[in-house]
Amino acid sequence: MQITQQTQISPEAQQAKLRLGIIGNTPMLIEAVQRAITVAPIDLAVLVTGESGTGKEFFPQIIHQFSARKHSKYIAVNCGAIPEGTIDSELFGHEKGSFTGAVSDRKGYFEEANGGTIFLDEVAELPLTTQARLLRVLETGEFLKVGSSTVQKTNIRVVAATNVDMAQAVADGRFREDLYYRLSTVQITIPPLRERGGDITLLARKFASDFAERYRMPQITFSEDARHLLLSYRWPGNVRQLKNAVEQAALFCAGQEVPASELSKYLPADAPRIDPGAYSPTIRSNTYEREREMLFNLIFRLQRELDELRKRVDEHQAEKPKRHLPVDAPMPDDLPKSLVKVDHKEESDPNVMDVDASEMTITLEDSEREAIRRSLLRNDGRRALTAKELNISERTLYRKIKEYGLD
Ligand SMILES: Nc1ncnc2c1ncn2[C@@H]1O[C@H](COP(=O)(O)OP(=O)(O)OP(=O)(O)O)[C@@H](O)[C@H]1O
Ligand SMILES: [Mg+2]
Repeated sequence: MQITQQTQISPEAQQAKLRLGIIGNTPMLIEAVQRAITVAPIDLAVLVTGESGTGKEFFPQIIHQFSARKHSKYIAVNCGAIPEGTIDSELFGHEKGSFTGAVSDRKGYFEEANGGTIFLDEVAELPLTTQARLLRVLETGEFLKVGSSTVQKTNIRVVAATNVDMAQAVADGRFREDLYYRLSTVQITIPPLRERGGDITLLARKFASDFAERYRMPQITFSEDARHLLLSYRWPGNVRQLKNAVEQAALFCAGQEVPASELSKYLPADAPRIDPGAYSPTIRSNTYEREREMLFNLIFRLQRELDELRKRVDEHQAEKPKRHLPVDAPMPDDLPKSLVKVDHKEESDPNVMDVDASEMTITLEDSEREAIRRSLLRNDGRRALTAKELNISERTLYRKIKEYGLD
């Protein structure tokens, strides 16, 4: 399927693409980048899914770099490459003597990356025992080193990736369902190369230029029928396969225009489509996916609102670092009242209070005390009227007045 349509790209997404060298403008790819940036500041677990070779490894990096953890460690672990016998120790560490060969204590990645991000690549390959440990860390931040009974704490953001159909892995009993839900609080799906239309030729040209530079050879170009082949091939190995094919053509046909007949030598005969629905939208249509998507959107909306408020508070602070407000004047509309600390210490005029926006310490008690104090002033200290205005019982008001020393 050829897609020529382009999607609006935010400056952050553009920056992420440039920084990591991500090529492509397909809306599905841009949306995936955008989604990674949106979720980055919120400490939720993210699962990146997509066929092999689609470029999943860029996404945990985007999430780390656009999060508050960017100055802390980023550790990438290929769960499929670590033998089953040592994976617990690699991830969670071990104590000296806990098994043959454990000659000293060892820190695991979860301890090493404390405060940062851990990328669990090929997460579906984790043995079931390790899955249980991982679930505990995700739920409580706690883990045990192998051979130890002392619970340790870690503060880590987990981003995982897989090219496996996780729903199937759960159905087959290879992956814990609870862990799957926990890991995939937010899911980012990377589109297969065959669905990226014009991006395919864009990538081929970029790789051709990169390899020409790397091997110091004149660059290859593609004939029209080769470009047609690039667009119609199924790319079971996705971008990784395209990169390999272009690399071979760059070496064997340096400086030439590569025809389809030559290019096809580097591409295995196109296989029939397999596993068509693995990452298609149908998998997202069940109730769980819909509910998760709703929650996801809600969290992002709240996050945006919070960012907006923060921005306004900062602007407010920059404009008017210190000013006087009469007691009865309403707080500025653009500031959440609970964000402003009211300082009573230097109050000489009872009708004037000092609002120092640079000291924005939020406590519920502060705002409650202030609300009661103002209401009492407004009602000349009459408790029945004050309680009515505050919509609390006179008894509660009496208790609060005592508690806050307002009498
Ligand atoms: N959009 C892209 N722009 C430039 N290079 C890309 C892009 N997507 C993928 N690549 C390159 O393709 C190769 C494969 O990407 P990557 O290793 O991220 O795949 P993957 O999705 O993790 O695959 P697997 O599931 O097999 O691990 C890498 O060399 C990567 O740099
Ligand atoms: Mg990978």
